[in-house]
Amino acid sequence: MPKTIARQKYGVYRLFVVGMASNWCGLAHSSKYNYSAMLFCYAALPYYCAAGRNFANNKTKGIMAHTLPALPYAYEALEPHIDAQTMQIHHSKHHQAYVDNLNKALAGTDGENKTLEELMSNISAYGPAVRNNGGGHYNHSLFWSVLGGNGSTPTGKLADAINETFGSLDALKEKMNTAGATRFGSGWAWLTVTDGKLTVSSTPNQDNPIMDIAEVKGTPILGIDVWEHAYYLKYQNRRPEYLGAIWNVINWDAVAQRYEAAL
Ligand SMILES: [Fe+2]
Repeated sequence: MPKTIARQKYGVYRLFVVGMASNWCGLAHSSKYNYSAMLFCYAALPYYCAAGRNFANNKTKGIMAHTLPALPYAYEALEPHIDAQTMQIHHSKHHQAYVDNLNKALAGTDGENKTLEELMSNISAYGPAVRNNGGGHYNHSLFWSVLGGNGSTPTGKLADAINETFGSLDALKEKMNTAGATRFGSGWAWLTVTDGKLTVSSTPNQDNPIMDIAEVKGTPILGIDVWEHAYYLKYQNRRPEYLGAIWNVINWDAVAQRYEAAL
């Protein structure tokens, strides 16, 4: 049984027992069988239980375990650029493991009451398990949301900002690809809004730009995973080839929504 549900039931049962005990005591100590008092107690019982339920709900507010978000498209939707098997393992195994390990790392700590964004923005206060697995959960959740496009290009304010900042979409792609290709080991390439401006950066491991320890801070609107697990089945050691292909499946509408929300 999920922890939150168990706690809610425990809270309701506890208050129910207290209510029944009060009722019984009222009867047992009444030398004249005060029926008015008894009726009052019974009438109050539903409210007592409702109060218990509310108490339990309030107590557990915010203590929801992190969960794996469903992909908004099928595993094979990004073929031939990202193969279905890679997507299936990446989402259902790797991302699921980050979620599970984050929940384990947070169990019984103050971090249980924090949102994922709150954890990230104060990540220096937590140990490596929260940093790595929380970052993994945040980064992959963003990653899935900006994939699934069909070769479209940016439009509107985002297109204007890309042209103004980088000169062209191709120049942005080149800068992102360089950031991803030159990230030693595992990490991410990011397009971030920092003080209203678009910035390209990269982070190691599962770090990201909303972490308080990030070199380049900001709101990420596009992230590209350059861990080998993101491409190795199809591209083996050819990370640049994977980086070249992924632009075919970027969902620019999703990136544009993130851009406007970040301004
Ligand atoms: Fe990944």
